[in-house]
Amino acid sequence: MYRVKTYNNIALRGLERFPRETYEVASGLEDPDAIMLRSHDLHGETIPDSVLAVGRAGSGVNNIPVQDLTERGVAVFNAPGANANAVKELVIAGLLLGARNLVPAAGYVQSLDPDDSGFTAAVEQGKKRFSGFELPGRRLAVLGLGAIGVKVANAARSMGMEVVGFDPKITVESAWQMASDIERARSVDAALEGADAVTVHVPLTENTQNLVNAERIRSMNPGAMVLNMARDGIVDDAAAGEALNEGHLHAYVTDFPVPGLLDHPRVITLPHLGASTTESEENCAVMIADQMRDYLENGNVVNS
Ligand code: MLT
Repeated sequence: MYRVKTYNNIALRGLERFPRETYEVASGLEDPDAIMLRSHDLHGETIPDSVLAVGRAGSGVNNIPVQDLTERGVAVFNAPGANANAVKELVIAGLLLGARNLVPAAGYVQSLDPDDSGFTAAVEQGKKRFSGFELPGRRLAVLGLGAIGVKVANAARSMGMEVVGFDPKITVESAWQMASDIERARSVDAALEGADAVTVHVPLTENTQNLVNAERIRSMNPGAMVLNMARDGIVDDAAAGEALNEGHLHAYVTDFPVPGLLDHPRVITLPHLGASTTESEENCAVMIADQMRDYLENGNVVNS
């Protein structure tokens, strides 16, 4: 009997992958063979010696002490690509929300009193105040062309945007061809210069901390938008706030609450919703469950 300890709510379709005859899956297990989690942070926790594998129902693994576990011989799995469509949709939504000023516009309408005699005039005023711009022809920089970045690039192209991509790891031509018809930048600086929007799809590491910094934001076109649906810290929040206040940036859309910018009228902050769809939660849980079973039962390693 294998014992899998779960943290967070893992989608049922994932849990169902463990046959009851051979698996006990529960949150309170003391000496499990494997751990399955989503956002729970394992740093600083004592992980029992019984654990052979840790699986994250998501793509980023910065809530797992990967190096320590690897040195102990514990396999760490993630689910790359399983949430790519969900994140892509959020990025496209973010571009549209920002370009059309939809969040402040909706807040404005909610603040109006339909019984007030000035209601109609106020609605008319809102129509002018929140007028936006369209995306075709605008230049989007995509930093990171893994499963998510490629989907974002292709979706933006299909909406008529010009797309420029940068990914230092992708050198083979075939990988670039997955994202059809996008310009290939040789550096982050080159990708951002003259861009109307940037979206980041890289993990947070020493090299990507503040990747989108003050200087790079300044090199973008006036009225540009910055989107961070990846990890807090990849965009320099203070620099983005300053550029918004100076009028250089039009919008900052981030999937993390940024202290100090929460109520900024042109900042849209979300509670890390990128992978939060029924489909993505199921895909991630199923992928992780299958990988962990394959490892525990057959010793096979996929995405470790
Ligand atoms: C990811 O890394 O894929 C996401 O952070 C998943 C999540 O929201 O839990």
